[in-house]
Parts: sequence; C-alpha cells; structure tokens
Amino acid sequence: MASSLDLIQQAIRDLPESDAPHLDARWLLAALLDVPHNDPSLRTDLEVTEDQASAFCEQVRRRANGEPLAHILGEWEFYGRRFIVNPDVLIPRPDTELLVDWGIEILKGCQRPRVAEIGVGSLAVLASLALEIPDLEGDGVDISAQALAVSRQNCRLHALEDRLQLHLGHHYEPLSGRYDLLISNPPYIVPGDPELEDAVERFEPEMALLDHLDGDGWGHHRALIDACGGYLSESGGLLLECGRGQTEEIERYALGKGWDSEVRADLSGILRAVYVYQRGK
Ligand SMILES: C[S@@+](CC[C@H](N)C(=O)[O-])C[C@H]1O[C@@H](n2cnc3c(N)ncnc32)[C@H](O)[C@@H]1O
Repeated sequence: MASSLDLIQQAIRDLPESDAPHLDARWLLAALLDVPHNDPSLRTDLEVTEDQASAFCEQVRRRANGEPLAHILGEWEFYGRRFIVNPDVLIPRPDTELLVDWGIEILKGCQRPRVAEIGVGSLAVLASLALEIPDLEGDGVDISAQALAVSRQNCRLHALEDRLQLHLGHHYEPLSGRYDLLISNPPYIVPGDPELEDAVERFEPEMALLDHLDGDGWGHHRALIDACGGYLSESGGLLLECGRGQTEEIERYALGKGWDSEVRADLSGILRAVYVYQRGK
C-alpha cells in the first residue's frame, strides 16, 4: 500500500513543466480512486493499492510528456457538465462557453428553437445549449467521422438522442430547412502559426484547429457567412467563435454582404465571437 500524500508529492516533483502540478496530481489520483478531486483526504492519507499506484505513475509520466490532462482522464468539463473527449476532438475550451451564454440569450422567448452547429466536435456546445433549453431541437454537423463518433457518445451520455441529429458532412450540406440559430466554432488557426506548437494542441486534431480552406484563419467564417442565408429563419442569425484579432475583419465582411453584426469578448477580454443577423432585425 502507498499513501495518497506520498504519491501526490512525488507527482508534483515529476511534473516540473506543468502550470499546475498540484491540480494535475489531484485530478489524476482522484479519478483513479473514484473520489472527488477536492476530497481533502487525498492530501493526507488515503490508501492506494500497488496497482493503483503504478497506474497513477504511468499517467503522471504521460502528463510529464505534455499529454493534456483531458486525454488522460478521457473526459473534460464544459458549462458545468462532463463530456467524453479523446484525441479525435478538440478539448472544449472555457472561452467557448461564451457561445452557449450568448446562444441562450439569443433564443430567449423562441418556442421550440431549431439550432444547427457546424463542427460539433465533442458536442459540448450544442449539447450544453440543448440541456439549458429543454424544448430545443437541433442538428450537428462534422466533417470528421471520428469526431462524430465522440459526439454520438456524448449525445447518449446526456440523453439527447431524441432532440439532436448528427450528420457527417461539410458545413451546411447535410442540413435542410431553416434554423433560428446557426452556431460554429470553426478551425481558425493559420497553418504554420506558432500557436500550434502549444503543448496541448500537439495532441489535438489538425482538422479541428487549422483553417485549410483559405489558409488565412477565417476561410470557414467567410464560407459560413456566404451560405447562411439559405438556412436561417427570418429572425435567425449565425453565431461564430473567432480567433484573436479576427473579429474586425469578419464583421466588415458580414456588413459588406448585407448583414448586421455584433461582437462580444470572452472572460479574458479578448473579442471572441461575432453574431451575424438580418439587417434591421
Ligand atoms: C474548433 S473545433 C470545434 C469543436 C467544438 N464545437 C468545440 O467548440 O469545442 C472545429 C470542428 O469543426 C470540424 N470541421 C472542420 N472542417 C469542417 C467542415 N468543412 N465542415 C464541418 N465540420 C468541420 C472539425 O472536425 C472540428 O470538430
């Protein structure tokens, strides 16, 4: 038997590159022992079997190699709920919770809203909206069959199969009819951008991160704006997450195409999302 305190102290020493070694160690050990990560006894004297201790050391080794905590745990929290993740999907980011907050606000008062998300990945965004708005029905699209497999697991995990349909395809292609809200956090990193060197992103799919459409970072945004008119209800709009410094160009583009727009910042104060809607609505 080993003690949880000894294991945590050793893990902290083994994770010198981590921003938060205490948290990493506590989350990993808590998941293995099936106790809450803030359980105070983790920091003192919980007993850990030899098998659990060696599994923990292996996980700490993976973490020390830069693998994201979310991948080692196999799940991540978004908008207060647990979502299954693996290397086939983007790990949902706290910044993206802005899309859910704003989406809820946009749909306030709308009866049985129809929503479609382009690029669902883990499904964290569309599922969170559906769980916050019980009469919402929607469609999710992703071009990656592997990502779609994860979104199907999360659809089941949150018992949303009756309300959300998932489709393999490019942008709006699999959709039909009109929606009260179209939403997307498309890939927006310029290929070759040093941001990709970030340790987390080395472990995430390029298809979720890099703008391969036009290569300038906002090719997906242009394409989604160009075609959204064919899928929006009269009062509907398109809500897009954007990369740092992209919102001004995206707004100018939307205005040039005859739409109105609004921009909001994320919790760090970075302009993060643009809402594109019918002029005068
Ligand atoms: C930045 S991730 C967003 C994932 C998730 N919605 C989130 O916010 O955490 C972008 C997603 O778009 C998908 N994608 C990339 N190109 C696409 C396309 N042309 N059509 C549909 N989905 C696409 C990727 O596979 C990936 O799952």
